[in-house]
Amino acid sequence: MDVSKKVWSCNEWDPLEEVIVGTVKNAVVPEWNVALGSATPSHSKWFFDEYGGKPFPREMTDAAEEELNNLVTVLEKLDITVKRPAPLDFSDTYKTPWWSSTGLYAAMPRDVLLIVGDIIVEAPMAWRTRYFEIFAFRDLIEEYFKDGARWLPAPKSTMNDAFYNQDFDPENAEPDGIRQFAISEKEVAFDAADFVRFGTDIFVQKSEVTNEMGIEWVRRHIGSEYTIHELSFDEEHPLHIDTSIVPIAPGKLLINPSWVRKDHLPDMFDSWEIIEAPAPTKPFDSALYFSSDWLTINFLSIDSKRAIVEENETPLMELLYKHGIEPIPVPFRNFYPFGGSIHCATTDVRRRGKLESYF
Ligand code: NVA
Repeated sequence: MDVSKKVWSCNEWDPLEEVIVGTVKNAVVPEWNVALGSATPSHSKWFFDEYGGKPFPREMTDAAEEELNNLVTVLEKLDITVKRPAPLDFSDTYKTPWWSSTGLYAAMPRDVLLIVGDIIVEAPMAWRTRYFEIFAFRDLIEEYFKDGARWLPAPKSTMNDAFYNQDFDPENAEPDGIRQFAISEKEVAFDAADFVRFGTDIFVQKSEVTNEMGIEWVRRHIGSEYTIHELSFDEEHPLHIDTSIVPIAPGKLLINPSWVRKDHLPDMFDSWEIIEAPAPTKPFDSALYFSSDWLTINFLSIDSKRAIVEENETPLMELLYKHGIEPIPVPFRNFYPFGGSIHCATTDVRRRGKLESYF
């Protein structure tokens, strides 16, 4: 690696030097719509009906922000530089030529920014509530650009009515035997969190927010040294790959056994050790409005020997320990109702290492 690079991250496990940690300040609950309904559990509809367009309740944001601030302290004690976004006023209604909406939050840098080597890819997103979210990160991106990073914003789509399959029924996603999604193939769409980096090989899933056009856009723009591989798992409504497969070190892949079958992984993983994650620890009292309880495996590797893990996950911590990873526990369950855990709430900007092939 060129040591002067301020942005450099090729995988999930090289030693972490700089990271962005999100914030739930100004977070606003999205209004119910077909795209949201396709990707969130049906039991949470009442929450979006009641609070849609309004700020998240204060007690939720206070408790989650405290956990984020504690995460920052833990990272800084490990000598990792931490940057934070500048949240917009997400309760402002904005208007495009086609529609109007309130915003969401700047809580999940992993969703909007994909760091590939020295390139910062800005994801175009697929929800109207997230259309302008990137601007919470723009000061940071401009700073990184001035420091030499490459900056690759994906094309903004209109997200007009025709972009969504308005008739999509999450209870019947394969009406003619062919899997349908709430978003169409009319425009480029992806969230960065549907991609996971293993050096020169990057894996991606098509999801309720990432379409073939989006995958192809990344493939064509990211550079010929990278190969993009498409995977699909048994998550009923896929949204973000980082509770399905979690690479923890070269040759070691943690999988969510509910959605990922070892024999469904491509042959290139034959030489890898595939480790099944334990079921999420119960009782589990976080309200999961956006996600499954597999947020438990959404942790952040500090390097290939240490990972920051949610503090209640004793079986996961024991498993990681057995595989040579020291878990560093932090409280994070008050953040879960916002739709992610420690991996989602962060994006690694710099990891010390080289671009390599691990297959
Ligand atoms: N859709 C996945 C990932 C969320 C970050 C889940 O519900 O576990």
